[in-house]
Amino acid sequence: MSRRMEARKFPAKGLGEKVFELLDELSEREPELGDHRSLGPMMSAPLPVSLKAHMVFLRRNLNDLHWFRVSADLLHETVAMLGDLLGNPEARGISTYGGSESNLTALYALREAGYENVVVPRSAHASVFKACRVLRMCIFIADVDEELRVVPESVRAVAREVEGGSVILLTAGNTETGVIDDVRAVHDLVPDAPIFVDAAFGGLIAPFITGLRKLPDFDFRIDGVVALSLDGHKAGLTPIPSGMLLFGREDLYDNVVFESEYMGSEKQLSLLWTRTAASVASLWASIKYLGREGFEKTYSECIRVADYAYERLLSEGFNPTRPELPLMCIRHDELPGIELLWRLRKMGWYVYSCPSLGGIKITIMPHITKEVIDAFIDDLVRVARDIKASSVNS
Ligand SMILES: Cc1ncc(COP(=O)(O)O)c(C=O)c1O
Repeated sequence: MSRRMEARKFPAKGLGEKVFELLDELSEREPELGDHRSLGPMMSAPLPVSLKAHMVFLRRNLNDLHWFRVSADLLHETVAMLGDLLGNPEARGISTYGGSESNLTALYALREAGYENVVVPRSAHASVFKACRVLRMCIFIADVDEELRVVPESVRAVAREVEGGSVILLTAGNTETGVIDDVRAVHDLVPDAPIFVDAAFGGLIAPFITGLRKLPDFDFRIDGVVALSLDGHKAGLTPIPSGMLLFGREDLYDNVVFESEYMGSEKQLSLLWTRTAASVASLWASIKYLGREGFEKTYSECIRVADYAYERLLSEGFNPTRPELPLMCIRHDELPGIELLWRLRKMGWYVYSCPSLGGIKITIMPHITKEVIDAFIDDLVRVARDIKASSVNS
């Protein structure tokens, strides 16, 4: 029997301590998030303090808030700190395993409150469309501009056509270009519709770079915003999984509180049942460790590096989107993004595509320095030259 076949058989006898060695070997074989070549994901290496919090609380069950009272306190403190940051200190909230669970849960809470239709820009994250499918909610698509920002007038036009209650879902930190939808403009045009903001990426960056960027408001300071999500494992520099979902309306929060009679607390929060408290402890630790000042320093530097990358890409003949947040889509007017992407990946660059614009997506997280950007752009220029040369020769 080949080694591969053998590895798939349930072992008759355990390998015991040897598994520790095996794990070391296996982990050497793939890159880690936060590796300097990891330029696509909106993720970085976790802060050591956040990793420690994750490890310490890994064996605490956030589903049992009666027994795990410390974990419950960390949850309530984290919700309060984020509510304070995002314009609603009274916000209620739950911990999730990330942006897609937050989208699913927020839409569920809204559907239960009577909003069965979702007006959403074409550029919303794929997990939004998936959530609507799971929940059997009807989707109505609004247009976006050339940088994938929602067109507010289109939201109004689409919302007018919808019969029955509808919610508007907007994004603060688009997955492909990083732009923030103009939530206030949408609210002004459609004042009666509740708005849920998917700020999975931008929620913990935008509030900290206001000294360098003039960004649109997107949070509870806008009347129509009833719920907002953000991820620890993106800009909160935590390990995976870590997400938060905040509600500005008590009735929506109540829709994600469920009975759990056999456990001490009698109530449980979120769509999942058993889950680790590591997800919230890690974000709590990042926030306590960095504070506003630390986040400002971290993401101001990312913006500076992103601006440096933008200028250099322009000077090398590329056509990047302007990095509103530290994320951009790099296009070339003559070369297909997909070909650039695969060649760069073969060279070891862990980059993603921005399919809506036909380019390559990079995210400038804290581990990406100017030196990494220079090395990346040097390779990109080389790859572009090779593609051009091969098309001339063929
Ligand atoms: C805007 C946005 N929302 C939601 C998600 C899904 O988040 P997760 O992968 O943590 O479930 C992503 C992922 O990149 C995202 O960019």
